[in-house]
This record gives sequence, C-alpha cells and structure tokens, in this order.
Amino acid sequence: MITFEGVTKRYADGTIAVNDLHLEVPTAEITVLVGPSGCGKTTSLRMINRMIDATEGKILLDGVDVRTIDPPTLRRGIGYVIQQAGLFPHRKIVDNVATVPYLLGWDKSKARARAMELLERVGLDTALAERYPFQLSGGQQQRVGVARALAADPPVLLMDEPFSAVDPIVRTSLQDELLRLQSDLHKTIVFVTHDIDEAVKLGDRVAVLRVGGTLAQVADPATLLSAPADDFVREFLGRDRGIRRLSFVPADLPLRTDLTVPDDADISKVAGVAAASGLTWLAVVDSGGRPSGWVNAADLPLSGTVADLRLMPYGTFVAGRDSLRSALDAALLAPSGGAIAVDDEGRVTGVATAGALAAATSGIAAEGVGTGRG
Ligand SMILES: Nc1ncnc2c1ncn2[C@@H]1O[C@H](COP(=O)(O)OP(=O)(O)OP(=O)(O)O)[C@@H](O)[C@H]1O
Ligand SMILES: [Mg+2]
Repeated sequence: MITFEGVTKRYADGTIAVNDLHLEVPTAEITVLVGPSGCGKTTSLRMINRMIDATEGKILLDGVDVRTIDPPTLRRGIGYVIQQAGLFPHRKIVDNVATVPYLLGWDKSKARARAMELLERVGLDTALAERYPFQLSGGQQQRVGVARALAADPPVLLMDEPFSAVDPIVRTSLQDELLRLQSDLHKTIVFVTHDIDEAVKLGDRVAVLRVGGTLAQVADPATLLSAPADDFVREFLGRDRGIRRLSFVPADLPLRTDLTVPDDADISKVAGVAAASGLTWLAVVDSGGRPSGWVNAADLPLSGTVADLRLMPYGTFVAGRDSLRSALDAALLAPSGGAIAVDDEGRVTGVATAGALAAATSGIAAEGVGTGRG
C-alpha cells in the first residue's frame, strides 16, 4: 500500500503542483491518476520513487516514509514506465529489458534469460530481442518498456501515460495486455493518464485531480460514472457517461428460450413459434447451435423453409460474463432490438428481448445516484 498523507509539492518558482494530497493506493490494485494537463499527475508519481521530493507531507510505502529509504534502494522495488518507452537507443532490446538485473549484478546469461521470458510475457516475439529500439514500432517499444519495468519483479509499478503515443487500436491492445498481465502479477500499479476512458477501463480505483493539484474525487469506476462528486468531475467524465456506466453492470437479463427456430424449419413452424410466444422476431439457429440471424414472423411467405428467408443482422453477448453495455450493443445491431445470448463456445442459450433490455436499462437509471446534467 502506498499512502499520500497531506502531500504538497511547491516548485522553486512557487508553482504548487500538488496540494495537500491524501490518497491510498491499495496493494495489488491499479490506481489511476487522471486529470487535465498540469494538474500534478507526473509530480505525484515521481514523488513516490523520489525523482521529486515532496515539500510537505509524507508518502508511505507499506508504512515506511519513502524519505527514509535511499533512492537507489527504493527504485529497485519500483518499476517505472513512461511515454514513448524511453528505451536506451544504443542497446539491443534484450539488454534494455535486462537493465535492472545487470545493475543488480545478475550474471549475463541469467539476466538475458529473464529478459526473454518477459518479452514473451508482454506479447512480443523473442526474435525482436536482438534488434535496436528504432527497429520496433511504437506499440512494440511500449511493450518493451513494460517488460523492462518488470525485469526485477518489483512489487510496485509506476506508469506515466505509457500508452498515449500510440494509435487507438494499438493502445487498446496494450491496455488489454496490461490487464491480462496484472491478473497474474498482482502488482501495485499507479497509472497516470489524461484519458478518462483509459482510466475507467484500467483502474480498480480512479483519482481525479484538478489543476492546482487538488484531488477532486477518488472512487471505483462505476461509482465515479454514476455519482461524480461535482461539476468538474462530471464535465471531465464527458457526455456519454450514462452509456459508459453500463460497462460496469453485468448483463443479468431474463433470457427467453422460446424465441428460436432451426435454420431448416418449415415456414409453418416459424409461424407457430411466433404465435405461441406472442412475439414476431425470432432468432434462427444453425445445426451447430450457433446464431444465423433474425426473422420477422410478421413478414413470412406462404410456404417454404427458413433457408428461403432473408435473415436480418444480429449481435450476441455472453450471458453471465458480458456487461449490459455489450448486450445493448448487440441489440443495436439487430432490427429486432433484441440481443442473442451465447455461451463461451458461441452457442445460443437464449434471447434477451428489446423489452427486457429496456427494463434493465431503465432499472439502472432508476437507481438514481448522481443524476444531473452532463
Ligand atoms: N520543475 C518544475 N518547476 C516549476 N514548475 C513545474 C516543474 N515541473 C512541473 N511544474 C508545474 O507543475 C504543474 C504540474 O506539473 P505535472 O508535470 O505534474 O503535470 P501533469 O498533470 O503530469 O501534466 P501533463 O498531463 O501535461 O503531463 C504544472 O503547472 C507544471 O507546469
Ligand atoms: Mg505528466
């Protein structure tokens, strides 16, 4: 656990970068510091590993004031990742990753073996190990930066906008990779970003800072989105926070199992299923149990089979795993307004109707926390 106790940083010119910050960073969680440019995120991060010393207050690492630990010892237990990776340009990738093990006096073959293991772990082809940083893409360099920070297996990782210099697709995959790594490594991570979407995706807890270096709110992402503390936080969260909040709500929807028809069924059977269910949109399922599309029983020819019909597009979600946002997204792809529930193998387990989705989303709104503009 890292604890900020009334931490203030005043630079020599009088700028107050961080103002009386009280914050707890729990062990084995990702805590994100987010806020506009100049709000003191980098300063806060660098005070943890003493690249910058606080003017007032204390930072405790597992109860020990970091000021009592000499910086090289302190930094051995703290990995640090920055924007554009900050790799040493004249060193091969493998040697970049092995930087800290070399400093710790590991023998060369052990340090290189560790580096190779980490390259794999962050999703890089070990064939890249003998290249120089300029021979890698931005996203690959960023992965190397993460591998280097993990090399000595530090319990704490500080990440300062590590993914902000890469394009959105690479960025998404780096974020997913970090979450996957964290699910096995359980590091105590402080992650800085100015991107609120990144913050709510990655953070177990999100601390929103405002310019002047004061803490506006700290909460888990779902609470932040549903109950922003004030207008600044609400505005910072942006206009679509209602939709984004649904990402944190499981898709616990009632599933109808009477709304499917096989893809070789006769038209009369389709009409019968629709009549029995009272609904006209039915999901068509192939012989492997996978969805093929929607049919509208209000618009059937007089004879033939499902194979003769034009199937309408559909979307799926995994019940019990995906969020309500995913289910809603699946429904928006379909003219039926319903979403097809599937299992992990993609086989249909039921249908969430448009009515069930509407009830679930209005149920969320009715919880009524943190309503307001925005
Ligand atoms: N060495 C310094 N001397 C004086 N002021 C500084 C110094 N370093 C940073 N500042 C100021 O302190 C404030 C906080 O800076 P900091 O780098 O922590 O912000 P940040 O939140 O990381 O911003 P960004 O999102 O742009 O990276 C800013 O007003 C900045 O200009
Ligand atoms: Mg910064």
